[in-house]
Amino acid sequence: MELLRTLTPLFTAQRLPVRCVQLRLNSSQRRRDDFRGHMSSGPNFQDFIRGLPHSQRSAEEHLTEPHDYLSEDLHMGNSRKVYFETYGCQMNVSDTQIAWSILQKKGYQRTASLNEADVVLLVTCSIREKAEQTIWNRLQQLTAMKRKRVKSQTPMKIGILGCMAERLKTELLEREKLVDVLAGPDAYRDLPRLLTVADGGQQASNVLLSLEETYADVMPVHHAPRGNSAFVSIMRGCDNMCSYCIVPFTRGRERSRPVGSVLEEIRVLSDQGVKEVTLLGQNVNSYRDTSQESFCDSAPTKLSRGFKTVYHSKRGGLRFSDLLDQVSRIDPDMRIRFTSPHPKDFPDEVLHLIADRANICKQIHLPAQSGSNRVLQAMRRGYTREAYLDLVDNIKKIIPDVSLSSDFISGFCGETEDDHQQTLSLIRAVGFNVGFLFAYSMRKKTHAFHRLNDDVPAEVKQRRLAECIDVFREEALKVNAALVGSTQLVLVEGDSKRSAEDLCGRTDGNMKVIFPKEDVPGRNAESSKAPISAGDYVLVQISSASSQSLSARSQLPERCCVTM
Ligand code: 5AD
Ligand code: SF4
Repeated sequence: MELLRTLTPLFTAQRLPVRCVQLRLNSSQRRRDDFRGHMSSGPNFQDFIRGLPHSQRSAEEHLTEPHDYLSEDLHMGNSRKVYFETYGCQMNVSDTQIAWSILQKKGYQRTASLNEADVVLLVTCSIREKAEQTIWNRLQQLTAMKRKRVKSQTPMKIGILGCMAERLKTELLEREKLVDVLAGPDAYRDLPRLLTVADGGQQASNVLLSLEETYADVMPVHHAPRGNSAFVSIMRGCDNMCSYCIVPFTRGRERSRPVGSVLEEIRVLSDQGVKEVTLLGQNVNSYRDTSQESFCDSAPTKLSRGFKTVYHSKRGGLRFSDLLDQVSRIDPDMRIRFTSPHPKDFPDEVLHLIADRANICKQIHLPAQSGSNRVLQAMRRGYTREAYLDLVDNIKKIIPDVSLSSDFISGFCGETEDDHQQTLSLIRAVGFNVGFLFAYSMRKKTHAFHRLNDDVPAEVKQRRLAECIDVFREEALKVNAALVGSTQLVLVEGDSKRSAEDLCGRTDGNMKVIFPKEDVPGRNAESSKAPISAGDYVLVQISSASSQSLSARSQLPERCCVTM
């Protein structure tokens, strides 16, 4: 990754509506992906040793029936209603769309009402203890509801999907007895079968991680009441093994979705009028499509200068710059963003492409995590403070108006007051406009859990976090104040939440802008004035700034239809 946002960000973050997509794949692509789908959802070794005495099978297997290969159609939803609750990062929103697409094909219906749901599925996050605690609490509430339902004879099944299913499989199934179905991030294709098993009164689980599952052939159902923005997943998993992070254990190894299916999905979104696409992945700029032999020469992956990886250099494959190049050519009026990247994967060609291509937003998330070399080394981040700052300089040189955002962790194992001061100084040195700041939360299985000491007291973590937030705000205010008087191209999202008189949109740098509603001349010469609406681009002049948003007046008396 960097993993996507799991908390409301300190400053701005995108939570934009997205809309419905019908993905068309060409037939050879479809055949290949079907085949892969079969392979990845196919039998595992255990399925062929069904005859084993129960004592030799794992606890989880006791809980599920074997695959029912010849009777796939038995696992039909029969119009039963599914209610989804999504926690954590944008990747989980994308996973919800995939899981729903799979169930929809099997005849399930989606409901927005918990009360009428036959199946409740929580798409979960494990990144920090707090995220998991929220889900445990919710699970208690849902179980109470389920018990009442049993009495009233309208049964309800509860399923846990995603990272928490992967991390806490045994606890969730055996100790707590709260859930009927568990599906890890690579097991959503198996959901119809798991739900059928659960209908038979048993708990059912599949938490197998895959080396190749990318759900390339699953049409995500983008859920978007007024969508002009969509998220498109391009890769999954992470090979970086930062010492604090659970993601490599819950989401498995890095793998990329074939370029053809990414482009096809974005073409469809463009045809539907979507104006902004965010490419998604745990480590989005480590994208490497090796699905075709022709992509696979022996050239080693290029890294940012001064950065290294914990794994051996990877060779061959179509890289992030190739994908970004092709994606940005689909529709010049469609803004392209990506999240969440790792600082190591910004070779100059990616930066030049961002600088040169008008519709690739000049906004880069650059998770630093710490400003201290000692801590960065303990975190196994593969770079020094100096290399990070050199990268920032290089980015600013190649993309002069770039907006930078970052993630930081306060109170990591062994962090001293001096280390913390270095983090504050790095925040001051760079000038980010958006930040996601967290107190360190120890996670089992990680390198830090096994080898390091979580020795910074909770109150010290909180105090340092508060200091980081204060400095971040001061710096973000300076960055935003420098925009006052400038003209910005804003993609309109809709009404401002604060006032029905105002509209809200985002700059290329992903900063929220509030500006007054005004009618402007219609799209063609004959039409009279029309209101500005969601999905329009408007040019505005920034009139004031806070650390979290900008205010503006609209500058041009007309809807902006410049081709970017
Ligand atoms: N504790 C606190 N923050 C963490 N992050 C990842 N793991 C942890 C942890 N164990 C943060 C990192 C990452 C972001 C998504 O979450 O800053 O970039
Ligand atoms: Fe991001 Fe590091 Fe976690 Fe991978 S291991 S998801 S790079 S923080």
